Amino acid sequence: MNYRNNNLYIENVSAQKIAKKFGTPSYCYSLNKIKSNIRNFKKKFRSIDPLVCFAVKSNSNIQILKEIKKMNIGADVVSKGELLLALKAGINKKKIVFSGVGKNHEEIQLAINKNILLINAESESEIDLIQKIAKIKKKKINIGIRLNPNIDSRSIRKISTGKKDDKFGLTEKNFLKIVKKYKTSKHLNIKCLSVHIGSQITSYKPYEKMLKVIKSVIKKSNHNFDYIDLGGGMGIKYNNDTKIFNYNKYNSIIKKFLIGHKTKIIFEPGRSIVGDAALLLTKVLYIKKANKINFIILDAAMNDFMRPALYGSTHRIVAFKKNKKIIKKRHEFVGPICETTDKFLSIPKFQMLNEKDCLAICDVGAYGMVLSSNYNLRTKPSEILINKSSLKVITKRQKLINII
Ligand code: LLP
Repeated sequence: MNYRNNNLYIENVSAQKIAKKFGTPSYCYSLNKIKSNIRNFKKKFRSIDPLVCFAVKSNSNIQILKEIKKMNIGADVVSKGELLLALKAGINKKKIVFSGVGKNHEEIQLAINKNILLINAESESEIDLIQKIAKIKKKKINIGIRLNPNIDSRSIRKISTGKKDDKFGLTEKNFLKIVKKYKTSKHLNIKCLSVHIGSQITSYKPYEKMLKVIKSVIKKSNHNFDYIDLGGGMGIKYNNDTKIFNYNKYNSIIKKFLIGHKTKIIFEPGRSIVGDAALLLTKVLYIKKANKINFIILDAAMNDFMRPALYGSTHRIVAFKKNKKIIKKRHEFVGPICETTDKFLSIPKFQMLNEKDCLAICDVGAYGMVLSSNYNLRTKPSEILINKSSLKVITKRQKLINII
């Protein structure tokens, strides 16, 4: 995203042109931002040479997955749909890990049939089922076991996954019990210890604690894990208050950890790859001037982009055309949906706006379109991919005829 003569551009294309051509609301991705995020991610961890598996749940557009695949990246999937999509995008099956707390029989069977790298299991019953299916198929399956390290990721509580009261993973005691139980299984290879303590984590410290717990658990298990899957979770800068995640520090603590452990590190980043690579283009329908607030009623709503309504998260909003005139009054950017939480942002001042002006909601590439819905029977937005000066529709705007 950049401004040229006070006009918003995505790569070399003006936001106005995109909105005019494809309408609003539309998700608009910068391919080269995604690519540079991947290059930077790899660069930061070059010294540990990890396997990077993109968390498909953060963005499951097949065209984006195909681009990610070209950069030699694997996939972290959590459902049959995501697994089939990753394979369809051409992602190497030996770079696919299947995570999730409740994989069903069909999903486990598919993962086994497709010979993916790892099924990361999260409960004893699930491991029993994997073993049962593997036995029927006369196969030996590579699994990971997810540890719940009881670490507070100090992120948004609603997206924390690594505390003992979260549903994810196994407690240390159960983890050790399971490793012992299945170590000699004829149908299971315990290849991996996996963790994922949360998302939008901005400090390396929870990861440091997590690695300490992993170290101690490995020692107690007396087992060699070929892989340690550290999950994703690295935070991005949504606004000026967000701390920038210290990759160098994280890399150096992992490097230290690896001195005592000969193992391959896996990462499952989602947000850090696609989060800041998209804008949601929207138009001002109406401006309603109340006593102390200007309500800016947009044509985008919580069904198009859920994060503010769901987590109270803050996403910057910028105008297509910069205007130096600032209105010092509270502005609330809201959608047309019949819910009070259908609100994107509330700020004390904003540049002067008029009805029909266009705006962009920032950093919506991760957990944006994937969380959209048809609430209020609204159609889902289109998705556009920008590569320098070229524009490609990667999802057509949904038509009412398809949902009525
Ligand atoms: N691996 C596992 C097992 C996960 O559960 C997740 C995310 C990831 C990797 C990727 O995490 P990331 O690098 O993207 O932080 N909808 C929420 C986020 C939910 C995250 C769920 N798990 C949001 O919009 O903030």
